[in-house]
Amino acid sequence: TQDAPGAHGAAKVLVASNRGPVSYEVRDDGSLHSRRGGGGVVSGLSAIGPDAGALWVCSALSDGDREAVRRGVGEDGVLMLDIPADVHADAYNGIANSVLWFVHHMLYQTPLEPVFDAEFRRRWASYEAYNRAFAEALAGQAAPGAAVLVQDYHLTLVPGMLRELRPDLRIGHFSHTPWAPPEYFRMLPDDIAEQVLRGMLGADRLGFLTRRWADAFEACCARFADGLGGTRIGVHGLGADADFLRERSHRADVTERMTALRDEIGSAPDGTPRRTIVRVDRTELSKNIVRGLLSYRQLLDDHPEWRERVVHVAFAYPSRQDLAVYRDYTAEVQRLADELNSQYGTPGWTPVVLHVKDDFARSLAAYRLADVALVNPIRDGMNLVAKEVPVVSDEGCALVLSREAGAHEELGEDAITVNPYDVVGTARALHEALSVRPEERAERSKRLAAAATALPPAQWFLDQLHALEEQPGPSA
Ligand code: G6P
Repeated sequence: TQDAPGAHGAAKVLVASNRGPVSYEVRDDGSLHSRRGGGGVVSGLSAIGPDAGALWVCSALSDGDREAVRRGVGEDGVLMLDIPADVHADAYNGIANSVLWFVHHMLYQTPLEPVFDAEFRRRWASYEAYNRAFAEALAGQAAPGAAVLVQDYHLTLVPGMLRELRPDLRIGHFSHTPWAPPEYFRMLPDDIAEQVLRGMLGADRLGFLTRRWADAFEACCARFADGLGGTRIGVHGLGADADFLRERSHRADVTERMTALRDEIGSAPDGTPRRTIVRVDRTELSKNIVRGLLSYRQLLDDHPEWRERVVHVAFAYPSRQDLAVYRDYTAEVQRLADELNSQYGTPGWTPVVLHVKDDFARSLAAYRLADVALVNPIRDGMNLVAKEVPVVSDEGCALVLSREAGAHEELGEDAITVNPYDVVGTARALHEALSVRPEERAERSKRLAAAATALPPAQWFLDQLHALEEQPGPSA
């Protein structure tokens, strides 16, 4: 490994992402309270151990986070960047979540179409500044030859910027989203599209969740850049964490919530517990929650024999509420659930049990009670819910799964596949899922769980790290 050109830090493995592993909240008495998040990268970093010299660079997102930075409060191994709030808002809300997220998930449709005007250019400058802040922090903290793992669409420019600042580093980037095919990606202004690809291609190695997204990226590079250059591509299909889920879902807070949920769900006229169709999502346009509700309504119309005997348990947790289109979507989900309940409900039966307050223990309780899991996104990088429910469900669940979810590449064989736009077809799939014989359902669920846990989060992370470290170095 050649020496770094300028000043360098001591970190040997660095992760960069918008959302970090910890967040802070200011309590009424002025004290700071911290909360740790989960996910694949968290498991991966704990797997490499505390002495590996790991550093996670992330954004301060909440007022509490910014206060923590100001007070110099923090955790070992985490560096929060206090990016000016307006720059962050433009980069995160204005570009990452309302342009890049929409492009990769192909969410634009009339009348919601991109307008790449002067205001967009102004926000893009913030996106660049935001990416530069990460690149500079990483350059300052990384030891010579260190491995840097940059995460997601918020930070597509970082690999290229960092390569210029620190040619000695091993740079990886991982996309947790789909990648748009060339015909859709070309919607971006040409210079911006080029900048995104060049930024990504600054990495030694790019990771994607499925072959399909990797192929789309390669196709974009073939069309709009000079191919991949020296950058290599890897596919790493993040799996569910079986050990963690099984242990966590048997704790007392989960069993308490199962009791409460069973009460809400109630019993069919013959006294047996009602069947459940469970979904758990961020209230996110790509998750297709509204068409899920429409499909459920279609099921009740086409198969009235299920009325009073089934409940749709839908947990739709708040997400990206700074964006009007997300607020509107949240309202539409709520409105449709209310409408269904008032049109179909009876004194003893609430057809849709909708909860919107994020509660992980209650999500696990719903997983355990699930007869059917409904995962019908329009487009999704992977979708871990599809992988988690079969692992956790007590009786084994039937999985109704969109062919547009990355998880479909691994789970398609034992799931009931749907076209997410086809409401009638999804209703048919729900009926089929509710009608599978218990033994067959249990067997298929077991196979789903096995496929879902093939690549646990720690291994997923280590595979990427090792592949990056083993790749011929920049000076080779
Ligand atoms: C997706 C992205 C993540 C993001 C998450 C939650 O899974 O790939 O990078 O953190 O959504 O979205 P949020 O905007 O709340 O961070």
